[in-house]
Order: sequence, then structure tokens, then C-alpha cells
Amino acid sequence: MKELNGARTLVTGGAGFIGSHIVDGLIEQDAEVIVLDDMSNGDLKNIARWEDNKRLKLIKGDIRNQETVRNAIRDVEYLFHQAARVSVPYSVRNPHLVLEVNVMGTTVLLEESRKADVEKIVVASSSSVYGDTPTLPKVETMCTNPISPYGVSKLAQEQLGKAFHETYNMNITSLRYFNVYGPRQRGGSYAGVISIFFKKAFENQALPIFGDGTSTRDFTYVEDVVQANLLAAAKPVSKGRIYNVARGEQTSIDGLTDEIIRLSSSKSKKEYLASRPGDIHDSLADLTLICRELGYDPKYGISEGLRKTFNWISNELQL
Ligand SMILES: NC(=O)c1ccc[n+]([C@@H]2O[C@H](COP(=O)([O-])OP(=O)(O)OC[C@H]3O[C@@H](n4cnc5c(N)ncnc54)[C@H](O)[C@@H]3O)[C@@H](O)[C@H]2O)c1
Repeated sequence: MKELNGARTLVTGGAGFIGSHIVDGLIEQDAEVIVLDDMSNGDLKNIARWEDNKRLKLIKGDIRNQETVRNAIRDVEYLFHQAARVSVPYSVRNPHLVLEVNVMGTTVLLEESRKADVEKIVVASSSSVYGDTPTLPKVETMCTNPISPYGVSKLAQEQLGKAFHETYNMNITSLRYFNVYGPRQRGGSYAGVISIFFKKAFENQALPIFGDGTSTRDFTYVEDVVQANLLAAAKPVSKGRIYNVARGEQTSIDGLTDEIIRLSSSKSKKEYLASRPGDIHDSLADLTLICRELGYDPKYGISEGLRKTFNWISNELQL
């Protein structure tokens, strides 16, 4: 993508899981990258490969702090906004903090982007904005109905993006990511299910399944999310749009667990637990809009994505 060659970019949350992959994608295209991350869930290891690269600059700071953001965003052309408190269960226990970071933080970023004349803003949203509506696949034009504080915060981010686009004619695109997984996803209690399950499988521990295992997700390999971000930034048609970003395939939690146990040659057993409040049952994206308008073409099916994730985690744990 020629457009990003030499471009001045800011990635909020760039030391986190998805943000650090976007950083890789940008530096590989010869963009200059500022990472703004408060390191609440980031890891320097995620961007360590660029440590000596003059194209990367790390600012440790909070997106809620107007002055920090103002300094970081000066001269930036493209903003990739990934910073957020990202967990549904965490948001059920800490709604105030999650709303404050995700909504007020985004407001500060949009305000300062407007003042700094940022050309293009891509905002990370989430499939959680659809909530537990039974209709599948999820199409961008459907009614939203988030059922967790996290989902509400992501919908508010999108709406803020829309409002700033309408009011100030800013070039903003929101991307609704569906269950992203891949290397660098953290294995703590609030991490994505795939990294948690791999770590438990390596230790032959029981794999906790919330519900009866029939619930499904559209698991999306992180490289496909990077592709969507770079396309959204480069293609003018994306202005003011909201797109689903996913693989476009449904995988049941039972099926996923079996594949993880098989790949890791684990003796782990499945342990069925009560469903968690705020969790949705099924999820599947319709990708017609993003494929047609941006030329998005997801490359990684669940088998290949799991294999790549397995290779990375094995390496990390030095198995
Ligand atoms: N992982 C998924 O499956 C998924 C799905 C849908 C949407 N998303 C969205 O994608 C984005 C990235 O998620 P991720 O999975 O990489 O999570 P992550 O926690 O790895 O990354 C988020 C980063 O933001 C940073 N951060 C948090 N609060 C901050 C603050 N106040 N100021 C500055 N930095 C702050 C964290 O330190 C972290 O590095 C988030 O906006 C999330 O809501 C993720």
C-alpha cells in the first residue's frame, strides 16, 4: 500500500496484542510509527523487534490525558486507535473504569485529532456491539444491542466516530473485530479463549468451557485484522464507514477445544461451567461490505491460524 509509505502514524495501544501487529505492518511499509500505550496490558516484548529502528517511537502515557495525546498526535497523518480496556468479564466488574478509558479516552483522541488535522482515523470496535441478537450472520446495518459494559463502550466509540465524522467532516472508520487471536495474545484470566486454552493444554490442565460448548465464534487471525486496518487507512471510500472484520466462518467452542488438545498432544479434559454474564451465544460476521468496498480478503482459516498460534506459544514457552 503505497499510501502509507513514509506516512506519520500513531498507534494507541501499540504495545498490546493487536496494536503491535499493526505496528509491524506499518513499519514493514516504511511508515513512521508512534506508539502511545500506558502499558496497563501492553508488553515491551511485543515491539522489541523494532527497538533500534528509528521509525518507531514509544510514548508511555494514558489516552485520557489531553496533554499527552496532544503531544503524541502533533504532525500525525494516520491514527490507529487500539487502546482500550478489552475484557467483557472485567467490564462487568469494573464498568466505570472501562467506560472512562474506552469512551472518554476516545473522546480525547478525536478532539485532539481534529485540532491536529489528522487525515485518517481507524477505530477498533468489536462484534460485542451486536449483543445476543439471534440473527446470523451479523450485518453492519443490523440493530445493535450490546449486553455488557464493554460492548456499550465499543458502541459509544463508534457513535463518537460517526458524530465527529458528521459534525467536523473527519475521515473516521470503525472496524468491528470478531474474536481475534494469534501470537502475542496474553494468557491471563482476561485473555482470549485460544491463548488461555493453549496454555492450559500445555500443562494438561482442564479446559473450562462456559456453557455447553455449542456456542460459536467467528475466530479471526490477527494478520487479517492488520490487513483490514491498512486497507481502511488507505482507501478513501472507507470515510465514515463501519465494517465487520472477521474470517467469516463459525467454530464451536467444543470443536475449538478438540483442535487445541489435538495440536498440543495434551491430556487435558473439557470442564463445562455455567455461562458467564455478558457473554453472547453465537457470532458470525457478514463480510460482504468490507470485501466489496475495501477488497478485504481474509487469508487464515481456523486450522492454519491455530497452527501458527500453537507454534508461537510453543516457542514462547520453549517447549
Ligand atoms: N482481541 C480481540 O478479540 C478483540 C475483539 C474485538 C475488539 N478488540 C479491540 O481491539 C483493540 C486491541 O485489543 P487487544 O486484544 O490487542 O488488547 P490489548 O489489551 O492487548 O491491547 C490494548 C492496549 O491498550 C493499552 N491501554 C489500555 N488502556 C490504555 C490507556 N488508558 N491509555 C493508553 N493505552 C492503554 C494496553 O496497555 C494495551 O497495550 C481494543 O480496542 C479492543 O477493544 C479486540
